[in-house]
Amino acid sequence: MGTFPVRLLACSKQKPTVQMASPHLLPFLPLLLLLAPSSAATGVIQLPSARACAAPPDPAVYDRPVIGIVSHPGDGASGKISNGTATSYIAASYVKFIESAGARVIPLIYNEPEERLLEKLSLVNGVLFTGGSQKSGIYFETIKKVFQYVVDKNDAGVILPLFAQCLGFELISMIVSKDNNILESFSASNQASTLQFPNYSSLEGSVFERFHPDLIKKLSTSCLVMQNHKYGISPKRLRENGALSSFFRILTTSPDENGEVYVSTVQAQKYPITCTQWHPEKAIFEWGKPMIPHSEDAVQVTQNFANYFVSQARKSPNRPPADKVLDNLIYNYSPTFSGKTSKSFDEVYIFS
Ligand SMILES: *[C@@H]1O[C@H](CO)[C@@H](O)[C@H](O)[C@H]1NC(C)=O
Ligand SMILES: *[C@@H]1O[C@H](CO)[C@@H](O)[C@H](O)[C@H]1NC(C)=O
Repeated sequence: MGTFPVRLLACSKQKPTVQMASPHLLPFLPLLLLLAPSSAATGVIQLPSARACAAPPDPAVYDRPVIGIVSHPGDGASGKISNGTATSYIAASYVKFIESAGARVIPLIYNEPEERLLEKLSLVNGVLFTGGSQKSGIYFETIKKVFQYVVDKNDAGVILPLFAQCLGFELISMIVSKDNNILESFSASNQASTLQFPNYSSLEGSVFERFHPDLIKKLSTSCLVMQNHKYGISPKRLRENGALSSFFRILTTSPDENGEVYVSTVQAQKYPITCTQWHPEKAIFEWGKPMIPHSEDAVQVTQNFANYFVSQARKSPNRPPADKVLDNLIYNYSPTFSGKTSKSFDEVYIFS
C-alpha cells in the first residue's frame, strides 16, 4: 500500500487555495490535490511522509512496557487511612518511578487469588518488589511465587526483568539462600549514604554502565542515596554463602551509621535481576523525611535507575492485549494523599 505525501498549506495571509475552489469542483478536490504537481503548488510545504518519521520496527524492542508491582500489607500510613486486615498498599512513588521512564503499572495485589496473580503476571514486561517490613505469611509466599515465576521465565529464554528494593532485596536473599535468618542488623533508618564500588569490573553490563563517570565518583563521596532499613547483609556473609554468591555479584556496598558495611546494590549473574538496599524512587517522589537527598545529582541517580529498569522491560517479548492491560492498570485506582498524616509516603494506592 502506497502512502501519499502529506501536504500542508503554508501559513500566510493569502487565502488558502482550498477555499478558492468553485463549489462544483469540491467533490473532486482530493483528487485535484493529489494530481497537482508539487512544483506547481506554490505556498505548499511538503512534509516528509509519516513513514519517514516512524522508527523502523524492531521486533526485539517493545515501547509499551508494563511493570507489575506487588502490594504490601497495610495502608502505608500506620492505619491512619485504613485498618482493614486485608488492606494493602503501593506507595505512589514506585509507580511514578516506573512512569517516569516510559512504562505503566499493574498492581499485583499480594492477597488476591493465585489465578488473578498469574493472569496479571501474563500482562507484564517486568516486576518490582517494594520496600516494607513484612517477612512472613501470605505476603512472603506471594513474593516467593512471583520470584520463581521471574526465574522460570528467564530460564525459558523469555526476558522478564525484576527490580527489588530494600525489603524486596532482603526477601530475595532469604529465598535464594533458603535461610530465613541470613540477614544481619544494621543501623540505617532514615539515613542518606554513599555507594562504594569495591570492583569496577563488576559494573560491566549493570545499571551503572549508563552512569557518567563523574556521577559514579560523586556517589562514592557524597550521600546521594536514601537508606531506610534495619536489616541487610554484609559482603562477607554474602560471599561465604554459596547460593547467594553464585546468584549475585556485588555492585556496591554502603556504611551504616556506625560504619558497618553492608551490600547496597547487587546484580544477578545470570538474570536481569537488580536489587538495591536503598530507595531510588524517594529522591524524586518522596518529601516526608528530611534526610532524603533531592539534589540534581541524586535525581540523576534515580533517573538512571528507572531508565535502566524500563529499558530491560522493553526487551521482554511479552505483548499483552491492550484491553486486558487497560482493565488491570493501576489507573483503575486513585492514590490517596497521605503526606499530611504520615511521614512514610506522600501518596499511596490502597487496595482493600
Ligand atoms: C486505626 O486504628 C488506630 C488505633 O486503634 C486508630 O488510631 C486509627 O484512627 C484507626 N484508623 C482508621 C482509619 O480508622
Ligand atoms: C571483579 O568483577 C569481575 C567481573 O564480575 C570478576 O570476574 C572478578 O573476579 C572480580 N574481582 C574480585 C576481586 O572480586
